[in-house]
Amino acid sequence: MSTVTTQDPDLLEPIETATADELRDLQLKRLKWSLGHAYDNVAAYRRKFDSAGIRPADLKTLEDLAHFPFTTKQDLREHYPFGMFAVPRKQVARIHASSGTTGKPTVAGYTREDIDTWARLVARSIRAAGGRAGDLVHIAYGYGLFTGGLGAHYGAEKLGCTVIPMSGGQTEKQVQLIGDFGPDIIMVTPSYLLNIADEFERQGIDPADSSLRIAICGAEPWTDAMRTEIETRLGLDAVDIYGLSEVMGPGVANECIETKDGPVIWEDHFYPEIIDPQSGQTLTDGAEGELVLTSLTKQAMPVIRYRTRDLTRLLPPSARSMRRMARIAGRSDDMLIIRGVNVFPSQIEELVLRQNELSPHYVIELERNGQLDAISVRCELRPDASSAARSRDASALMLQQQIKAYIGISARVEVGQPGCIERSVGKAKRIVDKRTLLA
Ligand code: DLL
Repeated sequence: MSTVTTQDPDLLEPIETATADELRDLQLKRLKWSLGHAYDNVAAYRRKFDSAGIRPADLKTLEDLAHFPFTTKQDLREHYPFGMFAVPRKQVARIHASSGTTGKPTVAGYTREDIDTWARLVARSIRAAGGRAGDLVHIAYGYGLFTGGLGAHYGAEKLGCTVIPMSGGQTEKQVQLIGDFGPDIIMVTPSYLLNIADEFERQGIDPADSSLRIAICGAEPWTDAMRTEIETRLGLDAVDIYGLSEVMGPGVANECIETKDGPVIWEDHFYPEIIDPQSGQTLTDGAEGELVLTSLTKQAMPVIRYRTRDLTRLLPPSARSMRRMARIAGRSDDMLIIRGVNVFPSQIEELVLRQNELSPHYVIELERNGQLDAISVRCELRPDASSAARSRDASALMLQQQIKAYIGISARVEVGQPGCIERSVGKAKRIVDKRTLLA
């Protein structure tokens, strides 16, 4: 789909094409600063380091980071709201928070300089995605405490784009404004972009005829099958943007349009490690495990070895001098264990998308059948598929057989009429766990 084969090197920052040694030198210098900053200014880090018997000065090489303790969401919750800040509250220019499914939200704080670093990294991300100064950028990530909207907004402005701060929701209006304003780029969750494509079609407009050239999609797991669906239906290039509020927000990593081979981690600001989620041991590059991130430049809220819960692999540099991450297989929290088999929603997604008559919208429901967990997949026909009950039954049976053959579990499959699956305006909720409702 892409017409871009290489990036103009003049547009890149020097660090994006630095040598491995130059990058490591910068990382080591910044890592020493970040550990010292956290230890000196955040009581929680000081206590953790002291009880592990380690001091920032013990870090002589990047590999020494593996001796430092992890930080988890629980740490952030325990010090809610501002206990993890390393600067006086008055120097904090912005607060974001992620809702969390239970209990208190996790809070993130930014100094003015942090906001500027974030904007520069999102600008770098949009550029990696093929965006340029002067492009018109439609932002459909939610604005507010969620980092998606404002993070994308500041980055697009920093790059010199014209920004349409649409936010999520009001899907008819999204379609109207895309038609009227003619944006080049949309920044949106992949599931909501499909929802917008449906709305185009409902209004009798082919979404591939829109002005959009590039979609910068993230904030939730999505598969390559979903990318193909998005690119084909909307006639654009779709690239992956990754981030999380505890570490910054969108723009921790972004895929390059010329390679589309997994998001490049902006390693001059975030040092990545992969660990075995059970043992906590650091794994070598290429091995699948949990992504752990350490901020190298954040002032208001440094994070040291933050356990993201996201499962991925570190891949060697390709289009840039920094390492990439493989598309996220899922969050460890989202891994389902069905009668002893580990299953991620993304595996089901791939199978749903393989069937031409099924739309890409689906929900996985978990129930308890006596002592055993039972899984059912609810999906729907595409509007142009035959809606006869017989063909719905045949699609359901086919998907059920594929789930058995490829994943190894028995699932109940229900195929409904087009539009029967609830749509998201932000992150899609893929799993409905009815076991906890009954407990
Ligand atoms: O979702 C930040 C963001 C906004 C990223 C817009 C990209 C675009 P949180 O709400 O804190 O922040 O959720 C972070 O979302 O740990 C992942 O599990 C998931 N996630 C984010 N990006 C991706 C992606 C934002 N590209 C959590 N692929 C992360 C898969 C993603 N999962």
